[in-house]
Amino acid sequence: MTANLSKNKFEFACKLSELKPNLAKAIEVSDRFVVLVMLDGGKIFCVEDLCTHDGGTLGDGELDGNCLVCPRHGAKFDVRTGDAICMPATEGTLSHEVRIENDEIFIQLKDN
Ligand code: FES
Repeated sequence: MTANLSKNKFEFACKLSELKPNLAKAIEVSDRFVVLVMLDGGKIFCVEDLCTHDGGTLGDGELDGNCLVCPRHGAKFDVRTGDAICMPATEGTLSHEVRIENDEIFIQLKDN
């Protein structure tokens, strides 16, 4: 289960108060670009800031329900799992585990 984790630790991502519901926030953590999303109900998810279709940045995309929409050609990724939901992407993007402590968000980066 931990074989694909680059580090078996959580790293600080940003303050909880920096997120707005249903808006993507792109950040850099340990030289990796990721996107944080707070869905309705307050649950927070983190995916790699990378569209698997052609390398678009998902952090510039808008949310459609539970999906981030790539601004380049419209592929959708479920932020809860990283799964690709529609063409032109056929492979999911990485999803990272999220932990909240007080007003701080920590993520556990998976290897890419
Ligand atoms: S680069 Fe994202 S849909 Fe093409």
